[in-house]
Amino acid sequence: MANIVIVGTQWGDEGKGKVVDLLAEFADIVVRFHGGNNAGHTMVVNGEQFISHLIPSGILQKKTCLIGNGTVIDPEVLIEELDYLKSRGIDVGLDKLMISEKAHIIMPYHKQIDIAREKMKGDKKIGTTGRGIGPSYEDKATRRGIRFVDLIDPEVFREKVKTILEEKNFYLKEYLSSNPLDLDDIIDKYSEYAEILAPFVTNISLIISRAIKEGKQILFEGAQGTHLDVDHGTYPYVTSSNTVAGNACAGAGIGPKEITGVIGIVKAYTTRVGQGPFPSELFDETGDILQKKGAEFGATTGRRRRCGWLDTVILRNSVRLNGLSGLAITKLDVLGGQKFLKICTGYEYDGKIINDFPANLNILSACKPVYETIPGWPEDISNIRKLEDLPQNTKNYLDRIEELAETPIQIISLGPAREETIILSNPFS
Ligand code: GDP
Ligand code: IMO
Ligand code: MG
Repeated sequence: MANIVIVGTQWGDEGKGKVVDLLAEFADIVVRFHGGNNAGHTMVVNGEQFISHLIPSGILQKKTCLIGNGTVIDPEVLIEELDYLKSRGIDVGLDKLMISEKAHIIMPYHKQIDIAREKMKGDKKIGTTGRGIGPSYEDKATRRGIRFVDLIDPEVFREKVKTILEEKNFYLKEYLSSNPLDLDDIIDKYSEYAEILAPFVTNISLIISRAIKEGKQILFEGAQGTHLDVDHGTYPYVTSSNTVAGNACAGAGIGPKEITGVIGIVKAYTTRVGQGPFPSELFDETGDILQKKGAEFGATTGRRRRCGWLDTVILRNSVRLNGLSGLAITKLDVLGGQKFLKICTGYEYDGKIINDFPANLNILSACKPVYETIPGWPEDISNIRKLEDLPQNTKNYLDRIEELAETPIQIISLGPAREETIILSNPFS
């Protein structure tokens, strides 16, 4: 029996959706444990592309999908996603989706505050997705959040929104010069959402615990990436939740001894959306080639992703912070055709080489990447399905990643589709 956590090792968009969809075949339950619709996870099955923001990426494998207490949920987006899946032929019934009663709700003021704050910050903005994620986690921490248990109780919901709205409207109007919101409008809209979503709301922790006792296998789907973690990332250019594997426990309501493995998803190069330091970022033609060939546009906001070489300083940081037991290398096909590839192995700062990721952003921003250059491969490798059939230079690149990360590669992804993959060692077997 195995219970596996999937996390992004970089700054998000590593291909978590693809790997979760692939591995969901071997799991009984797939759980999202943090974040919200800032995430955009892409799956390609039978030539069709699906993007999920909230519903776990196990849904196409028809697995039971759970949304944990550690998430922040915009009910409007969740309902839209249910409708979207239905329009694509996937009916998500009560046996397929369950939402934690303790998950927090994203309210209209969260979204408005997120957007107005970013506008006010000008070029000091974080580059958030504008989905209200930060303001919602902020209310959770200050104990003014509204949870699914509140949403589905009309009296409690009205009382809570009434109390908090006074303060939010003051802040919106007087500090952010934004429009105040109307209580009745919110209640009317959210009562409709409550009616649709109430049947899905339950105790997720209990469901997972029972399933584990019955010998079922659980896949925990991380969102964002390790360097967007609110504690361990490039703070303040991060998201507002813990993205590391440890949060699968807190965000789903299980104990650490249940987790049997952690797979870190590593894009074969690096990308980042939004602001914040990125030592191996490329500003030249190679960066443009990776961006175009890798179709590097955000799955949530459509923003162009910044691109750079693989950075093994952040990879080693991820190995430690998540306790990675294995790696899945994605988008290796995108590197085909490069004469040479560079791997960042350390940073140069103030005349010295540093190998650990600095917490001080002024230091990080002044770090220059130290590169190792290795020969690339001219071939298109996207149709290869066996490790031994890969060009020698591709194998050398993979070997060097394994060596630098001191962690075995278990999965190699060579294209967006489910089948464009080589599984070297299945985490569920
Ligand atoms: P996630 O947020 O980590 O799930 O990643 P996204 O879905 O936001 O971004 C990854 C993008 O790369 C998506 O468009 C995927 O379809 C695509 N993708 C995933 N794996 C591969 C791969 O191995 N090769 C190529 N070319 N594309 C991939
Ligand atoms: P997935 O799960 C890439 C980034 C935003 C911004 C910062 C804070 O698809 O990998 P937020 O809206 O969370 O307050 O924004 O975090 N960000 C992501 N970048 N992939 C994601 O998710 C992201 N979720 C948030 O661009 O820089
Ligand atoms: Mg994404």
